[in-house]
Amino acid sequence: MSTSFEDRTGLIWYNGGFVNWPDAKFHVLTHGLHYASSVFEGERAYKGKIFRSEDHSKRLIKSGEILGMTIPYSVEELEKAKYDVLEKNNLTDAYIRPVAWRGAEQLGISAQQTKIHVAIAAWEWPSYYPAEIRENGIKLITAPWHRPAADCAPTQSKAAGLYMICTMSKHWAEERGCHDALMLDYRGHVVEATSANFFMVKNGVLVTPPPDCFLNGLTRQTVIELAKKLEVPFEERFIMPEELKDVQEVFLTGTAAEVTAVGKINDQTYTVGPVTRKLRDAYEKLVQS
Ligand SMILES: Cc1ncc(COP(=O)(O)O)c(C=O)c1O
Repeated sequence: MSTSFEDRTGLIWYNGGFVNWPDAKFHVLTHGLHYASSVFEGERAYKGKIFRSEDHSKRLIKSGEILGMTIPYSVEELEKAKYDVLEKNNLTDAYIRPVAWRGAEQLGISAQQTKIHVAIAAWEWPSYYPAEIRENGIKLITAPWHRPAADCAPTQSKAAGLYMICTMSKHWAEERGCHDALMLDYRGHVVEATSANFFMVKNGVLVTPPPDCFLNGLTRQTVIELAKKLEVPFEERFIMPEELKDVQEVFLTGTAAEVTAVGKINDQTYTVGPVTRKLRDAYEKLVQS
């Protein structure tokens, strides 16, 4: 298989029908490309079942609404389309990428006449971070870019434009030998990595920041539910970077990342401890059930 995403084989759902993978194209004067009028989802199927599938479809519609884009498909239609994509591509364990964007019908800041296009692709993607980090955890470094305030960007939308600072931060981290970047928000609080939410364990208490300027991930919500069920003491509160030196465990959550232990942030090291293992095991069991 080619490494380029353009040249793969398979079928992609595109505006209601299927096209061959290399033919899923759009024009260079597409509004979404110039002005980031695009929202997307990242989902995983385990043994043929998409984890929290309807929640992802609802979030795609909501992400569009926040940007003033009405996705022209219902949750039920998106659900059928996603499962059709899996079936037509013979996939049972896969990553699924729905994307919606404004087309080339109008190009300029005003985009009232544009059509909202939707595509769904799926492919095999076993592990987001290298598998060998499972026992040691990934390395993070604090990013130079901060997450914007909720009145400066559509922070509750999974909008493509918000990922510009994620790619810059992730490249910055990789160039310094790290797996990902730890992002602070506009107030200097610890909030998340470039595509996963942040959790830490301090003196036996699981702590995560409130999602007031970043995505309240579905994996984050699932892990909080699991922690409550497993009677892990839990607290949602702001975290300052100085606190990271008095913390015993750190992990990230996300659809792609699942539950990923963190072994190092800047110069501070962490072990993959009992709370991380317990929640990682519970999450893995749940998604496979
Ligand atoms: C910036 C960001 N934060 C958090 C998450 C985690 O969200 P979820 O658990 O819904 O995949 C993601 C992944 O979608 C993300 O891109």
